[in-house]
Amino acid sequence: MARTFFVGGNFKMNGTLESTKSIVEKLNSAPLASDAEVVISPSFPYLAAAKSIITAKNISVAAQNSADRPNGAFTGEVSVAQIKDVGADWVIIGHSERRTIIKESDELIADKTKYALDNGLKVILCIGETFEEKQANKTLEVCERQLSAVISKISDWTNVVVAYEPVWAIGTGLAATPEDAQNIHADLRKFLSEKLGKSVADSLRIIYGGSVNGANATSFKDKADVDGFLVGGASLKPEFIDIVNSRQ
Ligand code: G3H
Repeated sequence: MARTFFVGGNFKMNGTLESTKSIVEKLNSAPLASDAEVVISPSFPYLAAAKSIITAKNISVAAQNSADRPNGAFTGEVSVAQIKDVGADWVIIGHSERRTIIKESDELIADKTKYALDNGLKVILCIGETFEEKQANKTLEVCERQLSAVISKISDWTNVVVAYEPVWAIGTGLAATPEDAQNIHADLRKFLSEKLGKSVADSLRIIYGGSVNGANATSFKDKADVDGFLVGGASLKPEFIDIVNSRQ
């Protein structure tokens, strides 16, 4: 089953209007692999501006979070309708920074995922274990628990990309080895196949995130179950283009 190579750029809480526009302009003029799907995720204030100047046809925009309910009295939150209104097609849900710092639960993340999908956004669903959980050999147990919460609430996975992001690899420079990432992705696909059926699992993209950069991205090239990347720090730099082109 051919799965389109997917590269997400999560800008997190970084940048200015000018720097965000500058990144988009550089991507517009770069020789980007035409068979890669690229989704950039600027901070909320810059989503509309970023979207409005994108000219490359394989680049779309994601929000970094969305509320699990419609517009209304919910100070500080941003709705799916508002995100769609500024032209974003995707949202990142369940990032470990929201799970660990904001204390978002598996249940809330599942609710947000369901609400976003039901209301027309595509979802990059992040899962992954902490260093302590890895040390305790709980990687799969944790990822399966995080996935199970969502499996219990949604039936159509067409518009979901699963991002496996071990927390210990995020922003540390210590990426998982391509072999370890492949093994975990294969185990996750097996689990998803058991729960959702082989055809759904075979078409679902499972991408890796955690210290991916322009130098190490090509080393994942021949890993059959690594369908792309969710990139943090390097998505703010010119090397993001090398990551997008790393399958060529
Ligand atoms: O969403 C992206 C991940 O948190 C990875 O971040 O590439 O800076 O390690 P990083």
